[in-house]
Formats: sequence, structure tokens, C-alpha cells
Amino acid sequence: MTSNSRIHLNVFVPTTGHHEASWLHPGTQPERLTDIGYYRETAAIAERGTFDSLFLADQLAIGRSVKHVAQGKLEPLTLLSALAGATERIGLIATASTTYSEPYNLARQFASLDHISGGRAGWNIVTSWSAEAAGNFGLSQRNSHSDRYRRATEYVEVVRKLWDSWEDDARLHDRATGVYADTDRIHAIDHEGEEFRVRGPLDLPRPPQGHPVLVQAGSSEEGRAFAARYAEAIFTAQQQLPDAQAFYADVKRRAVGFGRDPDGIKILPGLSPILGSTEAEARAREEELNDLTIPAVGLKHLSQRFDGFDFTRFRLDDLIPAEAFPRPATVQGAQSRSQVILDIVDRERPTLRGLLRRLAGGRGHKVLAGTPAAIADHIQLWVEQRAADGFNIMPATVPTGLADFVDEVVPILRKRGLFRTDYAGRTLRDHYGLVRPASRYARSA
Ligand SMILES: Cc1cc2nc3c(=O)[nH]c(=O)nc-3n(C[C@H](O)[C@H](O)[C@H](O)COP(=O)(O)O)c2cc1C
Repeated sequence: MTSNSRIHLNVFVPTTGHHEASWLHPGTQPERLTDIGYYRETAAIAERGTFDSLFLADQLAIGRSVKHVAQGKLEPLTLLSALAGATERIGLIATASTTYSEPYNLARQFASLDHISGGRAGWNIVTSWSAEAAGNFGLSQRNSHSDRYRRATEYVEVVRKLWDSWEDDARLHDRATGVYADTDRIHAIDHEGEEFRVRGPLDLPRPPQGHPVLVQAGSSEEGRAFAARYAEAIFTAQQQLPDAQAFYADVKRRAVGFGRDPDGIKILPGLSPILGSTEAEARAREEELNDLTIPAVGLKHLSQRFDGFDFTRFRLDDLIPAEAFPRPATVQGAQSRSQVILDIVDRERPTLRGLLRRLAGGRGHKVLAGTPAAIADHIQLWVEQRAADGFNIMPATVPTGLADFVDEVVPILRKRGLFRTDYAGRTLRDHYGLVRPASRYARSA
């Protein structure tokens, strides 16, 4: 299956926008976060822009900053099931944790979403980096980074077996003979591993896509190894073209090592565009958002990224020494993101206040303030320079920032022949140009 687009665009649907202070901005609607209409309207804008997919994150805990940051959105799988009925073509990617759930439950939930949406489901596989979630699942502390990835690996194996457990043609619906299903084509999986014992089969037929698309977003050493083995789309935070190129080459090379086609993995770095009719206007918009931030919020977020390290020991207007930060390789949360932040400190030598403003827009993802043509140039350059297969677009404000991107940047990308003008396929695999996997249990002819 070949996609009808040279680049792939996903929209990362936030609460009111990816900018930390977005809810204070008049272009957002913080009072609508539990209103299904709000998400329907957002999805309609993304579908008008022929995005490949929309994506919902999930942390399984309320953030510590709810006093000053809009939080409290709807549960992703429930929300996407509702959006499946309100959209026609766009892919629907939900985050779900391998640390705080069981594979049997999750396999049937995603299989159901894939059936409900006619083959548009994707699973963003996370191990839940945030320490906050552990307390909601009976743990006094989060499991180690390695333990989480080890469990995730076995977890994904089990889920894939369950999705395969019904062969595609297992249902016969033969009223004449009274045979509904061919039980030779419905298989127990009899999985017995270190973490899971699952008999199977699944209690519903194979998903339309065979497997809902597997998405992953870890970029540490263990994260890359996991992604290269399983992921079909990868979200990643990259600030610099050479770093993004190195990441791209490394993951594709590792995938080949697992016997995979490197084109079977779409690498989508995050990009938070802030548009203006001139660069000065765009920068002024970015400053306007940054001026709304509350340093205490940024300090909490930064501390979370470094396993609770207390940054209040520095004064806001002092330069912060890179040596003072905990080493990313020892971080038990999100290792690659702490490295991205440390690289910013190394490169730009900001004051603490400057760093907080720098991170307020994208939490380490690239924020780009510029004209629509400049944003399109950036997208084109990174794709042509083999740093990306497309982007995970993170609007600073919703709905305004998303609508601006769709109305002003998407037409330029289309005119340049980079992006589809309409959907060709029906499934998320079609949009990404991914092969539909056969069931491992299917009898060979
Ligand atoms: C775009 C993007 C979205 C993410 N969404 C979530 C999420 O919803 N829930 C979550 O627990 N982690 C999320 N993560 C974090 C990753 O799953 C992963 O834990 C993190 O990137 C660190 O992985 P690493 O330690 O392998 O670098 C996201 C990461 C990225 C880049």
C-alpha cells in the first residue's frame, strides 16, 4: 500500500493548546474541555486539512499544576470512539499505558475502536513516564525505566497475538448449516511469559487493519530499540536538524536490523507553529503567550522532567549551570526529553526564567514562530534532509492555531506537491502507506 502523500501530518490534540498558558489566551475555549462538541469541531478542522491522524495523550494522573493550567480532558479511547462517528477518514490515535493495564483489556478496546472507525485506529504505546500515575495504581513509586520497557515488550507481543487470534476469514455466517464461525481459524494464543499468562483467543474478530497502527514516542536507548522493533509511527522531540537526522538514520537502521522495511516506520517530530503575516508578528504572538506564563508552573514541569529535582534553589534571573542538572541517563522518567532540555541549556545558556519561557510552548518540542511560507519551508527541509517523514503538529492554541495551520500552511504544502489534497484511502494504514499484517495463525495456502 502506498500513501498518496509525500509527507504525513498528525495533529496532537491538547486541552486548550500546547502552550502552557494557552487557556489564558482569548483564542482558546477552556470551559469546553468536557464538551464533546469541542473535540468534534477540532477533529473537523483537522479532517478539512486532510491530516493523516489526530492523537490524544494520556498521563493517568492529574498534573500538579491544575490550579494554573487547564486540565481535565476526556478519556482518550472513549473520546475517540465518539469521534469515530463524527469523522470519515482521519486516523484516530489514542495513548494507552503498558504499565497500568492488562493486554487482554487493551487488545479488545483497540480492536473495537478499529471496527467502530472502519480501520482508523492507532495505539500510542507508552510506559507512563510520570511518577504521578503510580499512586493511582497501588504503587508507592514508579517502576524503573528498564522494567517498564521490559513489560512493554512482552505486553505488545501478547496484544499482537490476540489481534491475530481470529483469522480474517474465521466468520462464515452460514445460516444454511448453522455454522457461524470456523473454529479452526480462531486460535488460543497460550501465552506464558514473565509478566503475563493469557490463553486467548480474543472475544472479537480481527481488526479491519489486522493490527491497529502501533505508535511509540520514547527516544532513549531502550525507547529506540523498542520503537525499531514494533513502531510504525514515532513521535519524537527534536530541536536541531543534525540531531533529528541522526535519530532518523539510527531508528531506520535499527529497524532494518529487525528485518523490517525502513519505510514501514514514519518518524514524526513535534512542531508547534505560531503563525504571523510577518516574522515579527509571529514572534510578537509567541511573546504574548510567553508573557502569560506563571514561573511556578514552568518550575513544576521542569522539576518533573528531572525526577523531582528542585530548581527553586536557583534565582529566576540567574544563568543555570548545565552541570547542576541530574544526568539524563539516570532519569527514571522520560530520559530523551531531559536530554533535549539539557542540550538547550548547553547550547543557549539561558537564565532559569529564559529556559522556562523557552519550554512553555512545546515542553522541549520545536516551537517555530514565522510566516506560513517559513513554516512550510521548515517542514519541507526536514523531510528532504531525511530528518522526518512528516510532523506531529502541536498547535499553540486550539482551535485558532490549528485553523491557521490548516488554512495557511496546508495549502502551501499542497501547492508544492508535498501533501495530499484529499484522502485516497480509508484506513490509517492507507494514509501512512503501511502494509496490513497477516495473522500469524493463518494457514499458508
Ligand atoms: C509527542 C509525544 C507524546 C507523548 N505522549 C505521552 C503520553 O500521552 N503519555 C505518556 O505517559 N508518555 C507520553 N510521551 C512520553 C513517551 O511515551 C516516553 O515515555 C518519553 O518520550 C520518554 O521515553 P524515553 O525514556 O525512552 O526517552 C510522549 C512523548 C512524545 C514525544
